[in-house]
Amino acid sequence: MAFSMILLVTAAGPRAYVNLCPHYTMPLDAGTGLFLSADGDIQCRQHFALFAPADGRCFAGACPGASLDAIPLQVDGRGNIHIAD
Ligand code: FES
Repeated sequence: MAFSMILLVTAAGPRAYVNLCPHYTMPLDAGTGLFLSADGDIQCRQHFALFAPADGRCFAGACPGASLDAIPLQVDGRGNIHIAD
């Protein structure tokens, strides 16, 4: 099954999330390719819920307390980012 994901570099390291909002299981970007609010948080373009980049938890909007589906990452010795096994 194909899915799209968001990859962010945060102060806590790289983070990746499935591009689906837990509110209505719809693409966060609504096809726009835009994921971030003006403040640098992840923002759903459907109903504008806000998610913390570091852990994907919704802190404002339609689904407080819900979380994005995180994709585990590894950074190798060269600094390349991989999806963890
Ligand atoms: S579908 Fe994302 S806030 Fe409603």
